[in-house]
Amino acid sequence: MKKFEEKKFNIPTLKGISAKTIEEHLKLYSGYVKHANLIIEKIEEMGKEAEKNAYALGEMQRRFGFEWGGMRNHEFYFAHLEGGAKALGATSALKTAIEAEWGSFDAWLARFKTIAMTRGVGWAMLYYDKKTDRLVNAWIDEQHLGQLIDASPILCLDMWEHSFVADYQPSGKKNYVEDFFANLNWETAEMNFSSSKR
Ligand SMILES: [Fe+2]
Repeated sequence: MKKFEEKKFNIPTLKGISAKTIEEHLKLYSGYVKHANLIIEKIEEMGKEAEKNAYALGEMQRRFGFEWGGMRNHEFYFAHLEGGAKALGATSALKTAIEAEWGSFDAWLARFKTIAMTRGVGWAMLYYDKKTDRLVNAWIDEQHLGQLIDASPILCLDMWEHSFVADYQPSGKKNYVEDFFANLNWETAEMNFSSSKR
């Protein structure tokens, strides 16, 4: 059976977010890949007696979106932190699209930071919808509840407490968001944008 493969990330020293936090966080990501694979494997196995295992199968199937979200969202997130901080290109297609949608980059950034401060665990996300050629912001509960179907993730910010509490304390959530943008390699978001338009 085909397996999802755990990706490796080369993350430099970051502002505010410690190497220890990244190390622990990567272990969580690894767990999501493992469990996404495990669910598929178990479904295959228990599906041989589908009627007998109906309840367990249903629950595992329900859980798959959670593990998948934990796997894929983190792949976007850690990629954003690779390669060192790089500013969004002043004349880039992504900047132009953000300005077209929200009037200015700063207006979008303020909105996105507000979304990141949503109470509870989840993700602040910027998506591109090819059908309407628009960028859309969203808040995702947990990893998967509220994902926008058929839209492509461009920027993914992990707002689970495990991403910042050890370095910032619960009260330092806002500083973590600021530091995420200070560490962000915008080229990765630009690449997500260009590949989503194809
Ligand atoms: Fe996370």
